[in-house]
Amino acid sequence: MAPIIKTEKLNHLYSAGTPFERLAIKDIDFEAEQGEFIGIIGHTGSGKSTFIQHLNGLLKPTSGKVLFNDTDIWESKAYVRDVRFKVGLVFQYPEYQLFEETVYKDIAFGPKNMRLTENEIDLRVHEAADFVGIEHELLDKSPFELSGGQKRRIAIAGVIAMRPDILILDEPTAGLDPRGRDMIIGNIRSYHEKMKSTVILVTHNMEEIARSVQRLVVFESGSILMNGTPAEIFMQGDKLQKIGLAVPEITRVIMRLRELGLPLNPSIFTVEQATEALLNLKGGRKRA
Ligand SMILES: Nc1ncnc2c1ncn2[C@@H]1O[C@H](COP(=O)(O)OP(=O)(O)OP(=O)(O)O)[C@@H](O)[C@H]1O
Ligand SMILES: [Mg+2]
Repeated sequence: MAPIIKTEKLNHLYSAGTPFERLAIKDIDFEAEQGEFIGIIGHTGSGKSTFIQHLNGLLKPTSGKVLFNDTDIWESKAYVRDVRFKVGLVFQYPEYQLFEETVYKDIAFGPKNMRLTENEIDLRVHEAADFVGIEHELLDKSPFELSGGQKRRIAIAGVIAMRPDILILDEPTAGLDPRGRDMIIGNIRSYHEKMKSTVILVTHNMEEIARSVQRLVVFESGSILMNGTPAEIFMQGDKLQKIGLAVPEITRVIMRLRELGLPLNPSIFTVEQATEALLNLKGGRKRA
């Protein structure tokens, strides 16, 4: 199957020719299949936001290509405009971009730009509100009356309402409390399950994506350092720690137990997997 989105030798130079010139991403080759759930993780300044802003044509490559369904997104003005609707991007701290007088209008903003009918817009606003757990009574309120977590979810709904083929979220849980974080991650997971669309989630938080995504892409200094399933990535815990990224706590516990001689699979990254592995270990011993 051809990837839905692909980049070839993508480079982005900010402030070219000034003292602030900076090559933020270098020769990035990346592919995502239709329906994949991918996590992008990396240190601050590693180029994650710069990279994803190329995927919907918000930034233009200094060199290299972005292909959506095998066509260069910059092929024509019409194509890149279309791609902006098909690749939905939720920015870091998107709640600062809410500006309409009601929640409804904010969520409807994207679909309206797509020139959908009023009926279709209405359907999508309600559907998107359901995806992010925003009760319909709130639709008539001003977004400014709502909590931080609610505002964040409304901003996400505004992108979901465009029913993009690819949903990209840049640090959607940043600055939220654990309950708000769990809620948003849960919303995104169930959205992915129901819509079967491609989802790309950017985060600093290993624990929160370890259990959600099918593939992890690790950014380091503008390049892709690792790319694989969470199990494959966490098996290289040392490499992650070298660049200052922590493996999930439970993986660290398992690594330590292995050092102490317990025969455990090094790719455990959820408490459930660890519990099962430890129980099996005990069962195995009894049988022995
Ligand atoms: N508008 C800009 N002008 C100049 N340099 C920029 C600009 N935006 C980002 N950079 C630089 O490009 C590099 C990559 O930044 P980017 O924001 O893509 O990283 P990031 O991985 O998203 O970081 P964070 O985790 O903090 O969001 C950094 O060195 C950053 O300082
Ligand atoms: Mg960023």
